[in-house]
Amino acid sequence: MRGAEVRESFLDFFRTKGHEVVPSAPVILSDDPTLMFTNAGMVQFKDVFLGNAEAAHPRVANSQKCLRISGKHNDLEEVGRDSYHHTMFEMLGNWSFGDYYKAEAIEWAWELLTGVWGLPADRLFASVYRSDGESEKLWRKISGMDAARVLRFDEKDNFWEMGATGPCGPCSEVHIDRGEQACDRQGIKGHRCEVNGGCARFIELWNLVFIQHNRDAAGQLHDLPSKHVDTGMGLERVAALLEKVEGNYDGSLLRGIIGEAERLSGRSYGDGDDADVSLRVLADHGRAVSFMIADGLAPSNEGRGYVLRRLLRRAARHAKNIGLEEPAFHKVCGRVVEDMGGAYQELADGRDLIVSTVKDEEERFAETLDRGLIQLDEAVASIAGDEKVLSGDIAFRLYDTYGFPLDMTADILRSHGMSVDRDGFERALEEQRSRAREARESDGSGDPSILLPQARERGGTAFAGQFATEAEGEVIAITADGRLVESAGAGESVDIVVSSTPFYGESGGQVGDSGRMGSAAGATVEISDTQRPAPDVIVHRGRVAAGEIKTGETVTLAIDDERRQAIRLNHSATHLLHAALRRQLGERVSQAGSLVDADRFRFDFTHDGAVSDEKLADIESEVNEVIRSNLEVGCEEMAYDEAIAAGALAFFGEKYGDTVRVVRMGDYSVELCGGTHVRRTGDIGIVELAGESAVAAGTRRVEARSGGGALAAVRERDRLLAEVAGLLGSAQGQAPERVAKLVERIARLERDAEQASQARSGDMLGELVASARAVGEAKVVVGRADGIEAKAMRALSDSIREQLGSSVVVLAGQHEAGVSVVVAVTKDQTGRFKAGDILGELVPLVGGRGGGKADFAQGGGKDASGIAALMEKADAIIV
Ligand code: SER
Repeated sequence: MRGAEVRESFLDFFRTKGHEVVPSAPVILSDDPTLMFTNAGMVQFKDVFLGNAEAAHPRVANSQKCLRISGKHNDLEEVGRDSYHHTMFEMLGNWSFGDYYKAEAIEWAWELLTGVWGLPADRLFASVYRSDGESEKLWRKISGMDAARVLRFDEKDNFWEMGATGPCGPCSEVHIDRGEQACDRQGIKGHRCEVNGGCARFIELWNLVFIQHNRDAAGQLHDLPSKHVDTGMGLERVAALLEKVEGNYDGSLLRGIIGEAERLSGRSYGDGDDADVSLRVLADHGRAVSFMIADGLAPSNEGRGYVLRRLLRRAARHAKNIGLEEPAFHKVCGRVVEDMGGAYQELADGRDLIVSTVKDEEERFAETLDRGLIQLDEAVASIAGDEKVLSGDIAFRLYDTYGFPLDMTADILRSHGMSVDRDGFERALEEQRSRAREARESDGSGDPSILLPQARERGGTAFAGQFATEAEGEVIAITADGRLVESAGAGESVDIVVSSTPFYGESGGQVGDSGRMGSAAGATVEISDTQRPAPDVIVHRGRVAAGEIKTGETVTLAIDDERRQAIRLNHSATHLLHAALRRQLGERVSQAGSLVDADRFRFDFTHDGAVSDEKLADIESEVNEVIRSNLEVGCEEMAYDEAIAAGALAFFGEKYGDTVRVVRMGDYSVELCGGTHVRRTGDIGIVELAGESAVAAGTRRVEARSGGGALAAVRERDRLLAEVAGLLGSAQGQAPERVAKLVERIARLERDAEQASQARSGDMLGELVASARAVGEAKVVVGRADGIEAKAMRALSDSIREQLGSSVVVLAGQHEAGVSVVVAVTKDQTGRFKAGDILGELVPLVGGRGGGKADFAQGGGKDASGIAALMEKADAIIV
């Protein structure tokens, strides 16, 4: 049975037991604040268990996509290291909502496992909660297992909870003994193979939870109105068993995805080396990331989006570990979509978004990954002697400067047998946060709304800056460092309200103005930002540059005109973009947010799926045509209802007063808006769209520039193209063709080099075999093999071993990419010589690190001057 058939067979079985088969819930449940991600099949039924919702059917079954990467159930740290942990897995489950209970759940579990699937009954064990005698009796009666195979455990193993709060109850698990050879902790002191013993020999197959309590926020358990059954079985595990393969990653559900990573990297899975860990991580994270994006998540710096980013970055690092220098993880995700899109339509629908999001993130991270790894390597090398902990400050610097998530740093350290000072990291993070807070507070004077009462007593602020750039007004109120004051002197950070001002206070997406304010008595204040804590009050924020500013005096205010002009252009361009989007993509497009700054603007809007490049070009052309037709821009105050009736677009979520301002650009665009605009569309000059991306499920973002900013962007691209053409020594127009040819040529050269390596190794084979000396029963070859790439060197060592029989082979040589070293030991000699250990001793001499298995190890370095010493050492230690 293949994985997909196991899934079907489970569902069919429960159909025959009167269950309704329901679809998987999304991995992100936006209405449950207690969970970041769906971590079990029961999550979508939480309200039914709690008695808050009616069950549509008393018995259901499904296969649920689950993520275990946060909160109570988090397996992230384990993924890759063994063959059975995942961040994303499919959970097969059956549920009873106040219908059947323990007897049926246990009976059907036994029937399916042993009767339908034919798992060997004598290898199965059951565990029950320490006080659950009823389940114990049922197991013994139904399965015939004796007392030694029905075991009792306490809360840790046999009381299941979804999170810190929520439905929970005692549970009963089925475990299987996979035989002695499956243990991955052999030789570890104190380890015993047994149920819940922590090795890969005894693994849990199925968890039957008898939901009967709710845990509240204070940690108290309350009885639920009815008793329910909630079972969960990891599909990947049971499928691997039924497919008779070694581990979950060898089964049909994951092997194809691993295969893709093998193909891309040229490494093979199953050698038991570090590459296996990385290949598993890529396959696992590829699945998790694809589902997260398909369900509407985008990488970001907080919350769920940061969990996604962490996975992406870890994967990027593991891709590098197996020699993938170019972004390749998105291709692994492409394979996930291919393999699983049939069972999960959302993957097939989200294919382009998944691949482009991952690629984008990979490309961005690649810039800092290399530099960060060098820093981390240096830090590791400098940690003295027994000290095995990296300081929190260094981990923080890696996070802050190079974007290394803490768990990724910890993961890398773990492969060196080291750990990280997590508390120290948290302290450094908190220090940075408080520095940022202080900086914010000292820039301006804290919360601008402190000034509202004083400002309103005097009738608030009149905005005089629609077209004017200078005005006079009376200082109404001042705060310095967050406190109301009558006056403030040079050097003080201030917030100031003036009766009338040309400064635009940040609102409606448009940023605040900057400029200066001066009094007749000689005070000047540099204004760096302007806020609008309420519609009728504008607050200038800045620093007194000279003299003393006082309430009651008259000041002259002047905005930074050039900056404002750029903002004005961008704001009018935003309206044109909005109108063009609706014309090109349909009236259902509506504004979801915007930012209008001096050097760029962006516009968020509701829309399903990406906007194609061609469509984007059409939109850009349309906006520029409207600019060239030089429409008049008019602003008019009118009643809200009247404006809406006249077809003005309002921004959903924005609060409008009874009277609103309507900005009209010919008949092309009519919008409610309080911002500042050009007089005619021709003033904008040109708009260029920089790109389109996803910001959330169903929300897209277009980033753009207008006027001088757009021209500067076009020029910058010209400059880059000229530089590329210069390097290629070709005309600009020919550059793409030249690059294509170069890429082709490099591929050819690489192929040639590989063939040459193979040919050279063929030539060397005889000589190396002849150079063998005898050590006891084994032949030992220590040879220099220059000009042979890593892969060919491995093949050469295989051929030598084949010809010599019992042998130890050490090859080292220099080639274009650096120095490669191979140590190979025939199986019969591994008791005496361990390839991994030998390599570990040798590679430092060429400036590298490495290890591997007992019969084969491969590594390398950069320092070819150490090869001679390395060979001497090899001769000295293999005796
Ligand atoms: N909720 C239980 C688990 O996740 C059974 O489905 O293991």
